[in-house]
Amino acid sequence: MICLVGILPSIILRYALLNNYEDRAVAVRISDVQSQCQIIANHLSTYQYLDDPNSDVVNAELEQLSNLYDGRVIVVNSDLKIIKDTYTISQGKTMISEEVIKCFRKETTAHYDDVNHFIEITTPISMPGSEEVEGVMLTSISANTIMDTKERLGIRAFLLIAITSILIVVLAFFGSLFIVRPFRQIVREMDDIKDGFEKDSIYVPDFIETEALSLSVTQMISRMEAIDASRQEFVSNVSHELKTPITSIKVLADSLVQQGEDVPAELYREFMEDIVQEIDRETEIINDLLTLVKMDKGAAEGMEVTSVDMGSFVERIMERLTPIAKKAEVELILEVIHPVSADINETKFTLAVSNLIENGIKYNHPGGSVHAKIDGDYQFCTIEVSDTGMGIPEESLPHIFERFYRVDKSHSREIGGTGLGLAITRSVVLMHRGAIKADSVEGEGTTFTVKIPRKYMS
Ligand SMILES: Nc1ncnc2c1ncn2[C@@H]1O[C@H](COP(=O)(O)OP(=O)(O)O)[C@@H](O)[C@H]1O
Ligand SMILES: [Mg+2]
Repeated sequence: MICLVGILPSIILRYALLNNYEDRAVAVRISDVQSQCQIIANHLSTYQYLDDPNSDVVNAELEQLSNLYDGRVIVVNSDLKIIKDTYTISQGKTMISEEVIKCFRKETTAHYDDVNHFIEITTPISMPGSEEVEGVMLTSISANTIMDTKERLGIRAFLLIAITSILIVVLAFFGSLFIVRPFRQIVREMDDIKDGFEKDSIYVPDFIETEALSLSVTQMISRMEAIDASRQEFVSNVSHELKTPITSIKVLADSLVQQGEDVPAELYREFMEDIVQEIDRETEIINDLLTLVKMDKGAAEGMEVTSVDMGSFVERIMERLTPIAKKAEVELILEVIHPVSADINETKFTLAVSNLIENGIKYNHPGGSVHAKIDGDYQFCTIEVSDTGMGIPEESLPHIFERFYRVDKSHSREIGGTGLGLAITRSVVLMHRGAIKADSVEGEGTTFTVKIPRKYMS
């Protein structure tokens, strides 16, 4: 392709140049011959050749002209009779041709036959001082020398094009090798990575493009590694969390088996209750995990939303949580600053808000409170859940939305929970194209702020 781009113009150029040469050379030749003919025509009239065509001087001149240009000269008198033909064959015959007749009407003509390659020129013969055309000199000369030159030039041009073409092909071949090589290397290195080679960066700085490309690939690799690491961590967390209750159950059951027949009914009952509790916990973890996984999948598929009044929505959740709050001696307060409605998926958003209020109750002191505030403008709706509880240490704050993260691992067993609640909440808020943040002062309380757009955009 590139080769064609290089060769085609030279072929066109060659054709144009050669034709131009032919036109120019013919024009020069015509003007040369015309002036010579004019001189001889003047002599013809001076020597009154038309009356007596035997003048040696003039005949010699005519022969010379026809020899010089490899041509034929014919002289016609006013009766259209050929009185001289340097080829002698037509001498004495009558000449009727368009050019000759035109010439008697004082028109000098020059005509180039580009098929047979000859030039035909007519020159009028008049007496000195007279306007009358008394005879016509018809000169036809061959253009073969011009054609020869043109041919030679053509061969030379062809050779030149052939050499340039070969050069272009060779250069294009090596040039493309040079350009393609670094890209080949990138492909090779990426293939290595694909085949599972332990390599976390590639670097091919040959061109700016390849450097940028290898940089992007390296970034992609480190992103993939990060995703892989987080997935592995999640799997090991899940296994650990699921194993804990099972281990407890195994220990409890084992000790019952070991004690054999004579286990007191009291102890038996107590152990069985513990086992049921551990099973409940296992179920809780599995349910939370399933919710979380469904959330991750659902985000991609888009969800159904309805416009819901947020004040009464949070009020319903609080009513449902009142028994737990009563038990923990925590007061639930709802404040609607501006009544707003927002597009939400009620099932999912209920999970999100319940988790926040539940946490507010769980990580609180008896006599404390959880305060929900609803506010909004024409575009956004904010829900703020603050409590008077134990608060979250500053170093833990960035981690609380991570799966299975819990500030106090030792106490969390009594308090309950899986460490997945806030991860679920965050997923739900993100699905609603919203944002969530947490502020806390240790020992004083925590405030979660959720902000979602009132119109859901899928
Ligand atoms: N309102 C709060 N006050 C104090 N600590 C909180 C609050 N909400 C969450 N946390 C901390 O963040 C951790 C993660 O919360 P979450 O994901 O809901 O898990 P959990 O199942 O433990 O409640 C909790 O274990 C707790 O340590
Ligand atoms: Mg929770």
